[in-house]
Amino acid sequence: MDKLEIEGGTGLRGKVTISGAKNAALPVMAASILTPGEHYIYNIPILRDITTMGKLLAHMGMGYHLENEEVILQSNKITSTEAPYDFVKTMRASVLVLGPMLARMGEAKVSLPGGCAIGARPINLHIMGLEKMGAQINLTEGYIHARARKLKGASICFDIPTVTGTENLMMAATLAEGETLLENAACEPEVVDLANALKSMGAKIEGAGTNTITITGVTSLNPLKYTIVADRIETGTFMIAAAITGGDVVINRCRPEQSDALINKMREAGVDITVHKDSLTVRGPERIQSIDIKTAPYPGFPTDMQAQFMALMSIADGSSLITESIFENRFMHVAEIRRMGATIRVEGSTATVRGVKNLVGAPVMATDLRASASLVLAGLAAKGKTIIDRVYHIDRGYEKIEEKLQGLGSRIRRIR
Ligand code: EPZ
Repeated sequence: MDKLEIEGGTGLRGKVTISGAKNAALPVMAASILTPGEHYIYNIPILRDITTMGKLLAHMGMGYHLENEEVILQSNKITSTEAPYDFVKTMRASVLVLGPMLARMGEAKVSLPGGCAIGARPINLHIMGLEKMGAQINLTEGYIHARARKLKGASICFDIPTVTGTENLMMAATLAEGETLLENAACEPEVVDLANALKSMGAKIEGAGTNTITITGVTSLNPLKYTIVADRIETGTFMIAAAITGGDVVINRCRPEQSDALINKMREAGVDITVHKDSLTVRGPERIQSIDIKTAPYPGFPTDMQAQFMALMSIADGSSLITESIFENRFMHVAEIRRMGATIRVEGSTATVRGVKNLVGAPVMATDLRASASLVLAGLAAKGKTIIDRVYHIDRGYEKIEEKLQGLGSRIRRIR
């Protein structure tokens, strides 16, 4: 298993370019199931999760070709409507094939995603919505068996906003008979990107980006030719890398308006951030101020930035309260950052971080994607050497992270 070795203490300087958003690319790739043809998707990040989705679509009979940052999918023949456990267990986002498969083929057999490090992450709301649209769904032997001769438009209200739940049902509704209303829908930019991709295929969708989305079913769609939005979580991660090392970094090809909550909180913490149209300049202060955050659905503070922000607060001046309100177990990084000298106490869904002067490098272990990003950030700031094990977690969501950080002057290398 690869490891990352980081010699910390260097202030990052220079420019970095943000890749396409993993959490937009995955649903857009799944949308290619909806209609036969040759699909071209651009600005795709080169990540393990993208390859996993490509292999799953190929397993279903689709042509899949990834070259540089472009993926070509050929969906003329679907020879299997099954998403086996082996795929779903490595990437829960495989569940995104359920809605489009049901809409196109009238049936789908998708393994129930197990839990994961950050929580139980059920998909009951995905299933509730599809049943309202007329699907017969049985859960047997760990699989979702779904059938629907023709999905019908329905009025669906989510108990809580679910990103992939909104995406699954939005895709299914594009080919359903009549109108579908999604209420308490997720507003994340990745949901909007998927809606834009579906509209470019000829789908009729109103309200994406708000809590109420209306989809009017059509009889057929055209193949995709679409460019994926920039990754706001990679953007936020590099913003914190600049701040935590007292650096000065220009972040290019990003969408600053999608990171308002994080920008506001980082400015409150004393970080100097200049916003341009599609780039940001971030300068880290001498000393970071401690502030409190609470994660929330978009446009609130993103749960996917909670671990990274905790690394920043671990060397801030004072105490900060970090409350995780989306997932029930998203503090796996705490024990590891503590090994580097942080003083953090967890009580239920709130972590109290008492800032220390500096962290000290140590051997640590990644447990999930964003936790591993927080360990990299802590390693960049720490005095001495940090070795991060199980780096495959980070490769799922960050394209060429060590190369991008080396380009900013950090002393980081991958040990194969
Ligand atoms: C998406 O996961 C993202 N993944 C996650 O990013 C992100 O953390 C999450 O949204 C929240 O923003 C992708 O887009 C591929 P949810 P998703 O359904 O859709 C509960 C990363 O780091 N819920 O919005 O699985 C659920 O348990 C990943 O890139 C139900 O109860 O998250 C959670 O508490 C990690 N029933 C809350 O809703 C359901 O049917 C939000 O989950 C669905 C969800």
